[in-house]
Amino acid sequence: MLRIGVLASGRGSNFQAIIDGIKAGKIKAGIAVLITDKAGAYAVQRAKENGIEALHMSPKFFGNRDDYFAQIARELEKRGVGLVLLAGFMRIVGKPLLDAFPWKVMNIHPALLPSFPGLHGQKQALDYGVRISGCTVHFVDEGMDTGPIIIQAAVPVHPDDTEDSLSGRILEFEHIIYPEAVRLFAEGRLEVKDNRVLIKDQIVPCNILLNPQPQGGSDVI
Ligand code: GAR
Repeated sequence: MLRIGVLASGRGSNFQAIIDGIKAGKIKAGIAVLITDKAGAYAVQRAKENGIEALHMSPKFFGNRDDYFAQIARELEKRGVGLVLLAGFMRIVGKPLLDAFPWKVMNIHPALLPSFPGLHGQKQALDYGVRISGCTVHFVDEGMDTGPIIIQAAVPVHPDDTEDSLSGRILEFEHIIYPEAVRLFAEGRLEVKDNRVLIKDQIVPCNILLNPQPQGGSDVI
């Protein structure tokens, strides 16, 4: 069975969404370890509550970025990890980790990439004045929030939105599309070709649209 390693810096609600997807039997995988770069990250609490090993690895104890990510790669390899998930991990991943896990590192970002990468994607979208924003799950390359896109969800921006209200609306969709992308990976249905993600046995590209029915809701299509 696929063993997952999760890297997080803070609250860990996406980490929790993956845990819940596994517990519900939707994702056929197990989480081998959580690695945090920040002491006191709430994600650690979630790991404890779910019997998942948590490692704190701060970059300040390493000579340089490459050493740091090489050590993270070793810790993941030691535990037989086959998929690495960035779940609110606020660092650009170093080459040693990407080389150890080619197209096996995924990230979730709170914007429709390639728009608004980096910190505060939701605020960037608000400040720009877009009518639609959303979230993106993608495989990670050496850039900041770049790499082949797996799933996106479009989320409307309301005229009276604040950063908090928009972030909350987007987060609900993050918690849908991240477990979905992991499920597809665990089922061996994702392939990267020419920098695009092919989804096996899926007729249309994987995206989420808001259901226009008055009851609301959403559908993966
Ligand atoms: C999420 O909104 C995630 O998309 C974002 O950080 C938040 C972490 O929340 N990630 C990025 O901005 C990556 N550039 P969480 O800790 O509750 O999952």
